[in-house]
Amino acid sequence: MNFSEIIEKDRRFLLHPYDSSVNPIDVLPVKGGGKEFLYLTDGTILIDGMSSWWSVIHGYNNKYINDALKSQIDKISHVMFGGLTHEPAVKLAENLYKISSCHFDKFFFCDSGSVSVEVAVKMAFQYHMAQGNKYKSKILSFCGAYHGDTFMAMSLCDPINSMHKEFANVLHKNIFAPRPKSKFDDIYENDHLQVEEILEKHSDEIAAVIIEPIVQGAGGMWLYHPEFLNKLRELCDRYSILLIFDEVATGFGRTGKMFAFEHSNIIPDIICLGKAITGGYMSFAAVGTTQKVIDVVCSESGPGAFMHGPTFMANPLACECANASITLLKSYDTQKVMSFLQNTMKKYFFEAKEFDFVKDVRVLGSIGVIELKEYINLRTITPKFVQRGVWVRPFKNLVYIMPPYIICEDSLKKLCKAVLESIWEEFSKK
Ligand SMILES: Cc1ncc(COP(=O)(O)O)c(C=O)c1O
Repeated sequence: MNFSEIIEKDRRFLLHPYDSSVNPIDVLPVKGGGKEFLYLTDGTILIDGMSSWWSVIHGYNNKYINDALKSQIDKISHVMFGGLTHEPAVKLAENLYKISSCHFDKFFFCDSGSVSVEVAVKMAFQYHMAQGNKYKSKILSFCGAYHGDTFMAMSLCDPINSMHKEFANVLHKNIFAPRPKSKFDDIYENDHLQVEEILEKHSDEIAAVIIEPIVQGAGGMWLYHPEFLNKLRELCDRYSILLIFDEVATGFGRTGKMFAFEHSNIIPDIICLGKAITGGYMSFAAVGTTQKVIDVVCSESGPGAFMHGPTFMANPLACECANASITLLKSYDTQKVMSFLQNTMKKYFFEAKEFDFVKDVRVLGSIGVIELKEYINLRTITPKFVQRGVWVRPFKNLVYIMPPYIICEDSLKKLCKAVLESIWEEFSKK
């Protein structure tokens, strides 16, 4: 199919995320990829600034991961996990155990980031139910949070600035605290006091606190102070509430540490991992927890087992893909890669602080964010990025990049410059 045929049939048969079917935004047909580049069907080459939404950390068409998948496909692509097991899953659990500093003893493999949130929350509810506590039926989440598209995940997203408000009457009712306002590298302003107040009143009904550690992603690309996490741990312990870290976006090096919780001094009881777990090759996720939690969840006072089991749980192809991705990740000089990415993005993006249409600029690890004073029109800004040979997908008033870790210096500079020039062209004349 040629470029226009793909577009025509796409419009005829497909829906795209959060887009109208009546008046859809233009889409660009991709025919391939290599390293940090996307190859379009019409011959255009774009530098990818998005890592396909935090996931393609090693770039596209990585030979090492391709070979691991080809080798696994000749052995077995899928097998049920009830009553059976396999080496790729066992290896992956051990790999995750080791790269998370041996903090999480048990892993549950599932299909996607959203499902991992469902699994984590279910685990927390079951933990309290097994101790005879049926009244802990709510989760404490935060304004500005994003945890996914499934129903429990939606009910944990920001209650006002997310799709939450469209579905408010059908969603599980959870409890929300203000987002931590102290910036990542600023002075800590006791943001936890409001959480403490809520817990004092509602700890009887709260099973767990869930948070995206350090970076609130799709809810606003907000980078907050690590001390907040230390304080959350203290509060959760005081009130016998579980602490869940949703590291679906931040896991596997994105914030400059293997996991974002490493910026703090504590560990959560449950962790959700997804996106980059397979190097962005396929949908897959993991939930890790401690022996202490799982012993209670599986105790004889309840059903005696964790009550979840998706068909494609621990899919061998996905597990082997994740093993290959972790091997690659461990082979990098992470400190060097991250300081190159962070320093380059800071050098360019901090120039935007001078633009009068810019509200804030934030950079951490391989995440660069420019927050504008007004909303961005995707229909007018996207062609400006594409003309300059880059792929960037802003949302609301946020232009952000999170390139694949293997991006070369020339491409990263070109990407940063293209962002600055495009927003300047779009907003400076207004
Ligand atoms: C923090 C966080 N949790 C959960 C999800 C949902 O993951 P998925 O889109 O794989 O279902 C996302 C997706 O952006 C996310 O950023």
